[in-house]
Amino acid sequence: MSQDFTALKNDIAQTAKAVDKVMATYLPFDRIEYQPLFDAMAYSSLTGGKRLRPYLLWCVAQLYDVPFDRAMQVGAAVEFIHCASLIHDDLPCMDDADLRRGQPSCHKQFREDIALLAGDSLLILPYEILQNEKSHSDPIIRLELIKSLTQTSGVRGIMLGQTMDILGAENAKPSIDYTIKLSKLKTGSLLAFCCEAAAILGQESETDRKNLYDFGMKLGVLYQLVDDLLDVEGSASHIGKPVNQDTENNKNTFVAVLGLQAAKNYKVKIIEDLHTFLSTFHKPTENLQTFLSYLISRTS
Ligand code: IPE
Ligand code: IPE
Ligand code: MG
Ligand code: MG
Ligand code: MG
Repeated sequence: MSQDFTALKNDIAQTAKAVDKVMATYLPFDRIEYQPLFDAMAYSSLTGGKRLRPYLLWCVAQLYDVPFDRAMQVGAAVEFIHCASLIHDDLPCMDDADLRRGQPSCHKQFREDIALLAGDSLLILPYEILQNEKSHSDPIIRLELIKSLTQTSGVRGIMLGQTMDILGAENAKPSIDYTIKLSKLKTGSLLAFCCEAAAILGQESETDRKNLYDFGMKLGVLYQLVDDLLDVEGSASHIGKPVNQDTENNKNTFVAVLGLQAAKNYKVKIIEDLHTFLSTFHKPTENLQTFLSYLISRTS
């Protein structure tokens, strides 16, 4: 019998609503000059999106009694970075995708140059959120959050992963290790930030921070693997983005490197590893375990 995710979906909707509200306060709607830039930023960050990263952050934050409002400030910062990475990812010079979240991708709706600038602006905006005392009253904690976000979204994180993704498409001989590494970097990095940031907000030990960071990275491998499978087996109307793009772009996805069945077997192995981590963690992780089951069952 399939698991009932009604309660979880309600919780995700609650956090999505809260994080949307924070994000809207940081977007300069009141500006009327040079409107296309602001419109493009709002278009790509306020419409659609499953908002799973802020929810992950909130799941971990609850382990450390972090107040909801603080978690949502940091969740908004993560989501802006994520939206920026998607604008850039869809550009003709990257994945060249025309559809995102069920609507024309940013460069299709606006222009390529505006999309580039909107992505750049959304990448920087999170630092305005994290320096604000609403994210934490202690400036040292805020600096730690900024340091972690800089590392996970920059040259040691998403940017390096996206570079490996591009160069990997030119590799004659893809390897599973390469695909794992690029998935960790391009997708795991932000999930790792979500987990680590919650522990930072909770002023937790270095050990918890490190373990949760590693968990987030591994969760990213699973997240990307599910995404790669959806590119092959999903439908564009469900996932809101083009399908079969990875094959067309010769990407080193898990399906390309392992084959469809072996990729599915590998998925089972990662899920087992992640469940083992959660069930042996010294805090109650039921919410995270349900979230994990939800992630692997998703069809969009
Ligand atoms: C898409 O992420 C990009 C990947 C890292 C696979 P999501 O599937 O979380 O995209 P949205 O935010 O819900 O649109
Ligand atoms: C992109 O991975 C992950 C990012 C860091 C943006 P994909 O290229 O597979 O993401 P989708 O399928 O376009 O959402
Ligand atoms: Mg890509
Ligand atoms: Mg893409
Ligand atoms: Mg994909």
